Amino acid sequence: MKLLVTGGAGFIGSNFIRHVLNTSPDDEIVNLDKLTYAGNLDNLREIAENPATASRYRFVRGDICDAGAVDEVLAGCDAIVNFAAETHVDRSIVGAKEFLLTDIVGTYVLLEAARTHQVSRYVQVSTDEVYGSVSTGSATEEWPLAPSSPYSASKAGGDMQLLASFVTYGTPAMITRGSNTYGPYQYPEKVIPLFVTNALEGKKLPLYGEGINVRDWLHVLDHCAGIDTVLRRGTPGEIYNVGGGNERQNREVAAGILRHLGLGDDMIERVADRPGHDMRYSIDSGKLKALGWNPARDFEQGLAETIDWYRENESWWKKIKHHTDEFANWEKRWYEERR
Ligand code: NAD
Ligand code: TYD
Repeated sequence: MKLLVTGGAGFIGSNFIRHVLNTSPDDEIVNLDKLTYAGNLDNLREIAENPATASRYRFVRGDICDAGAVDEVLAGCDAIVNFAAETHVDRSIVGAKEFLLTDIVGTYVLLEAARTHQVSRYVQVSTDEVYGSVSTGSATEEWPLAPSSPYSASKAGGDMQLLASFVTYGTPAMITRGSNTYGPYQYPEKVIPLFVTNALEGKKLPLYGEGINVRDWLHVLDHCAGIDTVLRRGTPGEIYNVGGGNERQNREVAAGILRHLGLGDDMIERVADRPGHDMRYSIDSGKLKALGWNPARDFEQGLAETIDWYRENESWWKKIKHHTDEFANWEKRWYEERR
């Protein structure tokens, strides 16, 4: 298969490209990425430099909202996997315009191109956040959408465009709704890499509110395997939840990170809560499990390995945190007003 992967220079997309090139030796990938602040070609350096994978991989810088750019890279591709998105809830609270453009309009552009080029498969990488906060039980794919943040509302808009395209034109498209993902190469604005890299630098961990909000943690390689399963074995028009089955309160995650590094809970700093903060996410992944997928990684072990990865790859995250203004500006803008 020849795949167009969009947003492949980000966290999950770059792990997915590595996963596919290593597990499907005949597959080729074109990676279309705009390289926003979150896109980072360092994530794929060894793929581009290793002759065994470089011959099956091509990077093109471009925007999924640009129909001409999409049309060019899609020529000869069999399938699309769309990771490209603005992804940080807190940034969407500060300003959502880019979220609407990429997550909704960009998805529409890709779906139209999928139709014109008659690709055989399209996977939209979405999120469990579209269900909103789940007070009891676990959301199945049939649950109504109740997004709370400008980010999740934009992702829900993309999902709706996809379902409309399937119903109206028969576009062979599917949706995955993954839960909170962690692992190597995650931009350090998200809670786990933020807390880990802060702890490694002797800085406090800014915990929102009471720290009792619950997220269901999924290792990035389990998430990639779930997306790959849907790409190859999913049914067009269907939605598949991809959950880790590891529901933890944020304060437990913070304490686990500190424990692994031999630090105390005095490193936690309570800060003002996020507006509209969803209390709990929980999804039922039975439908994807019926296709043969199962999350393989234990959370405590996966978290320990992830912490070790950030400890061993300081240059990767220090370049992001300290060698450009982008991260520092964001940190100042968001956290100063919460202290
Ligand atoms: P990320 O922010 O690390 O990466 C996003 C990538 O998309 C970057 O490389 C960026 O340059 C690229 N991009 C942004 N706008 C673009 C545009 N207009 N055109 C082309 N490229 C563009 O995100 P991530 O955490 O890897 O998330 C990937 C996908 O998975 C997203 O769609 C997100 O909604 C979804 N998701 C993420 C999580 C999570 O916990 N991280 C959980 C569930 C679902
Ligand atoms: P985040 O990684 O931003 O993912 P999402 O909001 O998409 O779930 O946040 C995960 C949880 O961690 C969420 O409940 C908010 C909380 N959080 C903090 O307590 N402090 C922080 O500095 C950040 C970024 C998040």
